[in-house]
Amino acid sequence: MSKILVTGGTGYIGSHTVVELHNSGYTPVIVDNLSNSNIQILNQIEKIIGVRPEFHQFDLCDEAQTKTFVQENPDITGIIHFAASKAVGESVEKPLKYYHNNFFSLINLLNAYQGKPINFVFSSSCTVYGEPDTLPVTESAPVKKAASPYGNTKQIAEEILEEVAAAYGNYNTIALRYFNPVGAHASALIGELPLGVPQNLLPFITQTAIGKREKLTVFGGDYDTPDGSCIRDYIHVVDLAKAHVAAIRLLEKGNPNGKYDVFNVGTGNGYSVLEAIAAFEKASGQKLNYVVGPRRDGDIIRVWGDVTKSTEQLGWKAELGIDEMMASAWAWERYLQENPIG
Ligand code: NAD
Ligand code: WQD
Repeated sequence: MSKILVTGGTGYIGSHTVVELHNSGYTPVIVDNLSNSNIQILNQIEKIIGVRPEFHQFDLCDEAQTKTFVQENPDITGIIHFAASKAVGESVEKPLKYYHNNFFSLINLLNAYQGKPINFVFSSSCTVYGEPDTLPVTESAPVKKAASPYGNTKQIAEEILEEVAAAYGNYNTIALRYFNPVGAHASALIGELPLGVPQNLLPFITQTAIGKREKLTVFGGDYDTPDGSCIRDYIHVVDLAKAHVAAIRLLEKGNPNGKYDVFNVGTGNGYSVLEAIAAFEKASGQKLNYVVGPRRDGDIIRVWGDVTKSTEQLGWKAELGIDEMMASAWAWERYLQENPIG
């Protein structure tokens, strides 16, 4: 079966995608520099799928090493490019780190494949929509000025892919715009492994419930939403992983929309922070210690995706709901307590 390069494959979304690629008959090959993941994740993946995926540790910003890897692996037919730096707040403090890592890795990879037919799936984000004018937001909604250097790397990367796909004949590309990925694999053997204090809601909730954090602060309770807290389209990471397999399949079949395409990957449903907390409490049987505090700078008030295009043209639809997201995230946090990683 086809060999698919998964850059960032020991990371959160990458590790789940490696599992789903294997389950769908593909042979995933991982490249990761372990800058934001742990080598133990390879053992965890092996426990789930029964084989140890091929792993190469290097930095994709190293042009020579990237070229050598591509030359030595001519049987790779597709790439899922997760490798990037992703912390929004850090990107404001260290924009050059983000522009360096997220662009050089992308450009080195594309360069190394010049002249070779390649299917390329890119990790983009609903952050490109900013605060949408209409909801649910469709793929044709305008891209708004990025609120952070991180967001800007996703917008510019989409433009790079579109231009590169149009200029050369060999790149077949899809950008997947993820909404808010949460949850963990049903085995509880892989999940999100935040370094330090989590910036995202779900790991903060589970770390509070397990006692690693004292309390969660809900960022703002006075927004113009039914309960005053912000609304997001949370998507189970296993569903998200499956969307990548669907994207690779579409590219292999030939995408009638052309050499560059974009899809929303969400559930189409919005949940407020307070609803997410209630769903967590129900799924875990734990009372969460939280307070409603001030707003966080730069937060979007409400966003959820229109998933008509992904349903009809990608042939993919989210299957898991908020209860499974919360229960799996909680099972993973409890697993980590017994079996620390890192
Ligand atoms: P993650 O940090 O868990 O995974 C990224 C992986 O890439 C890590 O294992 C890291 O070590 C590796 N990496 C980073 N730079 C590298 C380089 N130069 N060379 C080799 N490896 C490198 O992040 P994630 O949550 O799994 O996100 C994966 C992708 O999805 C990223 O591109 C991210 O921007 C995008 N995304 C994430 C979210 C989210 O909320 N998690 C939402 C939208 C988009
Ligand atoms: C979700 C909701 C917070 C923490 C970020 C990036 C985005 C994308 C996904 C990569 C918001 C609230 C959070 C807390 C809270 N990443 N919250 N207390 O901000 O929607 O998106 O991750 O592409 O680009 O910006 O995700 O998980 O930080 O927040 O109340 O301690 O939870 O205000 O409403 P966000 P998040």
